[in-house]
Amino acid sequence: MYFNSIKPLDLVNSLNKNGIAVLKNYLSNETIETIKKKIPKLLNKSNLIKTASNIKEIKKNNFKNSNFYWLPKKFNKIFYGNQYKQPTGEITTKVSNSIMKKGYKFYSKYTNSVEFKDPLVNVPEIQKIVFNEKLIKVAKKFLKTDPYLGYVAVRCHFKNNLPNIDFNLFHTDGRNKKTKNENKLIKLLAPFHLEKKQKIEFSIINVKRNKIKSEDYYKYQYSKASELPKYLKKKIIKPKVYKKDIYFFDPDNFLHNAKKPKKLRIMLYIIFVKKNNYMIPKTKKIKIKKKYFRLFSPRQKKFAKYLCQI
Ligand SMILES: [Fe+2]
Repeated sequence: MYFNSIKPLDLVNSLNKNGIAVLKNYLSNETIETIKKKIPKLLNKSNLIKTASNIKEIKKNNFKNSNFYWLPKKFNKIFYGNQYKQPTGEITTKVSNSIMKKGYKFYSKYTNSVEFKDPLVNVPEIQKIVFNEKLIKVAKKFLKTDPYLGYVAVRCHFKNNLPNIDFNLFHTDGRNKKTKNENKLIKLLAPFHLEKKQKIEFSIINVKRNKIKSEDYYKYQYSKASELPKYLKKKIIKPKVYKKDIYFFDPDNFLHNAKKPKKLRIMLYIIFVKKNNYMIPKTKKIKIKKKYFRLFSPRQKKFAKYLCQI
């Protein structure tokens, strides 16, 4: 599960078995410090932030959510849905511009997390991680075909008194028991906020979804650890991801969550996909500066092929 160097086969074996593979000491102090210093300033430029979901509002009004389009009808009776059990981006109540303009110390009382627009442009320091050829090789081994950058995000999570939502609860990203072969993907996460000896807020359940009964799989989609049945609860892994570490994980086959942070959490998300993945139309909206793209190797250019060059 833990690796000091990038050995694609070993990492992929761990991913298939445990759902996760941690690369120790991957990030340099310099990269971490640069990003960590920069992010709070960028968070206060509301024009750089994607419209955030207003969790305070949906809590106050107890808005109902019946948008469980992913839930097979026959499980309607056993799944207790509410407004917190959905991806934060799908929540239709948004934080107003006037609130966003007051800075992140203020707007973080309304939302649990925000994502930057155009991360490759606004936080160019992430490029050396996103386009690292060795990491691309790991994705290739896992996907068994040439990987493409499907999505990249820099998302910040806040300490506040709002309820747990979305990724604070155990879930699989795809939410369905089966993923079409063409949509198979792998995620890479890099934390930038961890202090020495501070562990990542992330947990993963080491039970592959095909080993979970369909009833349980759907019933426990978006659950707290305390709500899980024993056989899942006892398989919760809190991986030893510390400062400088990054980790690959399989978000469709393994239930996972991230606790709300004690202070600002800064995360880079990279999604490696196959060429016919459903998210490619979204990929084509991710901007990259031509001047950087030009410097890429042929392999990197292929990997970045769906991005929008500006
Ligand atoms: Fe997730």
